[in-house]
Amino acid sequence: MNSSIRLFVVFMIIPALIRACSGGICLLGKTYVRIHNSLPEEVTLTVHCKSKTDDLGVQQIPPQGTWEFQFRPNVFCRTLFFCSMQWPGQFHRFDIYDGERDTERCYETCNWSVKPTGPCLLNIGCENWNS
Ligand SMILES: *[C@@H]1O[C@H](CO)[C@@H](O)[C@H](O)[C@H]1NC(C)=O
Repeated sequence: MNSSIRLFVVFMIIPALIRACSGGICLLGKTYVRIHNSLPEEVTLTVHCKSKTDDLGVQQIPPQGTWEFQFRPNVFCRTLFFCSMQWPGQFHRFDIYDGERDTERCYETCNWSVKPTGPCLLNIGCENWNS
């Protein structure tokens, strides 16, 4: 490598990687997303989560049940999984994992409890539905 390329690598690429992955996990193992059905009545929560490239299928989460999936975050922490969530009389959408939002606050596990008003991230707080 000539010295100008080396300088480019050191001053541009490495700091960009460190910034993008300041949670550290985007270069290491897997991320787990758990979805717990915390709806008050004994209703089944039906979720259908996808990313740009993966379709995780339709999942039926029984009352007080949990479903989880795992993935390797992309190196730039830009992984996005979005879900529809429905139960009788309700249909909502939510970005269940957004690398830019969640890399640092979830670290390697996002534990979500789904309530009627929106999903709540364990130890962090509740979000509103996207729609
Ligand atoms: C998330 O939930 C799992 C299963 O209930 C539990 O083992 C784990 O400790 C939880 N993670 C966090 C960060 O609380």
